[in-house]
Amino acid sequence: MDRIFSGVQPTGNLHLGNYLGAIRNWVKLQEGHECLFCVVDLHAITVWQEPEDLRRATREVAAALIACGIDAERHVLFNQSRVRAHAQLAWIFNCVARIGWLNRMTQFKEKAGKDRENASVGLYAYPNLMAADILAYKANMVPVGEDQKQHLELARDIAQKFNHDYKVALFPDIRPLILGEATRVMSLRDGTKKMSKSDASDASRINMTDHADQIADKIKRAKTDPHPLPDDVTALEARPEARNLVGIYAALTDRAVADVLAEHAGTGFAAFKRALTDVTVSVLEPIAIRMRELLAHPERVDAVLKRGAERAGAIADPVLAEVEEVVGFLRP
Ligand code: TRP
Repeated sequence: MDRIFSGVQPTGNLHLGNYLGAIRNWVKLQEGHECLFCVVDLHAITVWQEPEDLRRATREVAAALIACGIDAERHVLFNQSRVRAHAQLAWIFNCVARIGWLNRMTQFKEKAGKDRENASVGLYAYPNLMAADILAYKANMVPVGEDQKQHLELARDIAQKFNHDYKVALFPDIRPLILGEATRVMSLRDGTKKMSKSDASDASRINMTDHADQIADKIKRAKTDPHPLPDDVTALEARPEARNLVGIYAALTDRAVADVLAEHAGTGFAAFKRALTDVTVSVLEPIAIRMRELLAHPERVDAVLKRGAERAGAIADPVLAEVEEVVGFLRP
């Protein structure tokens, strides 16, 4: 059976874009695959995190995943720092990956910005840790967003170079599963920008924990244009805000955009936004309720993560031992 690994950062608020672009797909992938889902706290500290915020965000993201339907009994849900193999294998990969490879990573350039000298070494080596996440489990399928494609290619290069240098066939080839191309959720204030947790305006996004009235309010105030909905998908191309709202509606109702247009063509945005509010609330409300229940008992979330880490460690430890043997570490 294919083994899936994916990771999510424990930073800030999860929003509708995370749900439609990633989490919902993870939930579906649980059928027919063995899955490991990891809250990547080691990756989070590549940029400064207030310790209490990090702890809270780690719990919140875990609770959100469970509330969205990740089955932590049948699959494995844990936080990265609890399984030592990640950091240990990452060190070995630091010695496999080449500086030239990392220098090509566009995300580092974006995140480090102008003051590159002052970025943490961890931010630079971030992709090596990501490769370790995946390969510590010999996972061969990795669902990620478009922005992580380059990191996955690097992970494949690391696996190949390791196998080649040590003349082994230890690591599998990694199959990227690029998610969310069809359901890129854009900001409610600007249809050309991705919905983002770091947008200064909270009105630009729908958070997983927003209440029904907040959702209604944000959708009501979402930017649109004065024209009614067209009957043809191509007519949406020049209307990014309209396209975004129709896309969200289609994703939430599991229908094609063309299908939604066929039903709502000629409708004005006032009415369409009411329909969109109804479907958004009907999907997010039960998740938010479950999330609040879980977070009212943080010890239950912690227990799930603890058990997950034990099960993850049981898979990763033998792989790490195999790697250490191949590398030539004396293991007396
Ligand atoms: N870097 C990924 C992100 O920011 C998160 C991540 C960490 C990840 N390790 C991973 C994703 C391993 C897939 C596989 O989205």
